[in-house]
Amino acid sequence: MAKPLSILFVSSEVVPFAKTGGLADVSAALPQVIREMGHDIRIIMPKFAAVSDRKFKIHDIKRLTDMPVKLGDRTILGSVKSSFLTNIKTKVQVYFLSNEELYCRSDLYVDPKTKEAWPDNDDRFIFFCRGVIRTMLLLGWKPDIIHLNDWQSALIAALIKTEYADEPLFKNTRIVFTVHNAAYQGIFPAESFEKTGLPAKTFKSEGLEFHGDMNLLKAGLMYADQITTVSPTYAKEIRGSKDYGYGLEGVFKKKARKTVGLLNGMDNAVWSPEVDKLIPATYSADTLEKKQENKKALCEHFKLPYDPAVPVIGIVSRLADQKGFDLIKEKLVDLMKLDLQIVVLGSGEKKYEDLFSKAAKKYKKKIGAHIGFDDELAHLIEAGSDMFLMPSKYEPCGLNQMYSLRYGTLPIVRATGGLADTVEDLTAKPKSGTGFVFTDYKSKQMLDTIKRAVEAFKDEKTWQAAMKRAMKKDFSWDASAKKYIELYKKLLKKK
Ligand code: ADP
Ligand code: GLC
Repeated sequence: MAKPLSILFVSSEVVPFAKTGGLADVSAALPQVIREMGHDIRIIMPKFAAVSDRKFKIHDIKRLTDMPVKLGDRTILGSVKSSFLTNIKTKVQVYFLSNEELYCRSDLYVDPKTKEAWPDNDDRFIFFCRGVIRTMLLLGWKPDIIHLNDWQSALIAALIKTEYADEPLFKNTRIVFTVHNAAYQGIFPAESFEKTGLPAKTFKSEGLEFHGDMNLLKAGLMYADQITTVSPTYAKEIRGSKDYGYGLEGVFKKKARKTVGLLNGMDNAVWSPEVDKLIPATYSADTLEKKQENKKALCEHFKLPYDPAVPVIGIVSRLADQKGFDLIKEKLVDLMKLDLQIVVLGSGEKKYEDLFSKAAKKYKKKIGAHIGFDDELAHLIEAGSDMFLMPSKYEPCGLNQMYSLRYGTLPIVRATGGLADTVEDLTAKPKSGTGFVFTDYKSKQMLDTIKRAVEAFKDEKTWQAAMKRAMKKDFSWDASAKKYIELYKKLLKKK
């Protein structure tokens, strides 16, 4: 085998340590597959309150205790601790940057009381980025690739290319920056820029400056050697319009030649109905009748009447505008007139939490809602539902539609980003279709598509054939992980 690569994977969330969304799933699954391919990949993330020392067998790294890190004109101490991801034969080392005051809070990014971002998120993530660099310097570990993810780690690209441009340790290091969601940019007032310690000349439109503010996502876009997004369609969408690029469409357009869309995979060890330990009855494409037991358990959980002939539509989601809930809000009354049931698991914006909890009270026999975050229930919903609804306004990749396909739970999606790249419409393509797709972000189109799905559900033979096709789709990480490795190698060849 060619020389193994050393890769530092930087992410603010990693399953099982801390998670708010798909980034956490990706940040655990991709490094593990890359490790299995023989490369030395290590992960670093902040030590949030959820990262319990006992539960995750976390130990101190003595020489990285009380490490001084610059934050503006202050010096703050951070300690690095370590644990492993152990789902595979060869474990993956995970470093945690710890500072009680900055990270030990009830939520990763948002104050649950106000539902607003923590007011010192600039400090928290500037400290994280500088701390990551300090960690590598103290370890004396030379990464070939530093793979950054989203705005929380993006500043590292700018720091390495400016302040650390002459640092021998990073002389041959290449930086990959993956955008999982272009709408979250880490925008802070211009005053926060000073805390980064970056040279003043980087606060310009070719740098971190964005309409007078500091934009951390832009730091990644401007300074990384390679940009990736999490699906081919999303890579095109973000440079096309403001609806997708959220003001950075111009930058994405300029960087188009440096950008590639690589579809996320899914972790089949965690999300497979054949081996899922969190569901009442495991099943496969050959034992579809056992899926009914999960449907029964799901209806019981939500106190809905169980009827095999009535389709259950599942939703598991962050309750954010991105996910298309305003379309559901507009058509809720019409939906409730159809012969279907809906189960929702989610948390996030209050307006949507209220929408679903009120609906569950009003339509007791038709809709069940659990406001909160619950991994086990997410698995039960995937296994027990007949369909899965994701009418997203935009969706960089989306993992739940892939999980749904694996569980034979046919997705109803809007054709955007990764949803467009993974689901084929059953009505348009009866022989190859795996779900139901609509194109325009209009509530009537969504409603008509749900009606189409409810009609199709009546034809058991066709439905089961589609379920089996969906379950056989291969969304494992292998193919995409290979593409990342090829990309890393190509970058390292470039001078
Ligand atoms: P996003 O990252 O935009 O939230 P994805 O589809 O990529 O969307 O990934 C969402 C992940 O988070 C999935 O693993 C999903 O099961 C999980 N998830 C989202 N909301 C909840 C919740 N309330 N409870 C449990 N899991 C959730
Ligand atoms: C983001 C996106 C989601 C994607 C996930 C993992 O949170 O919203 O579409 O699947 O990141 O890449």
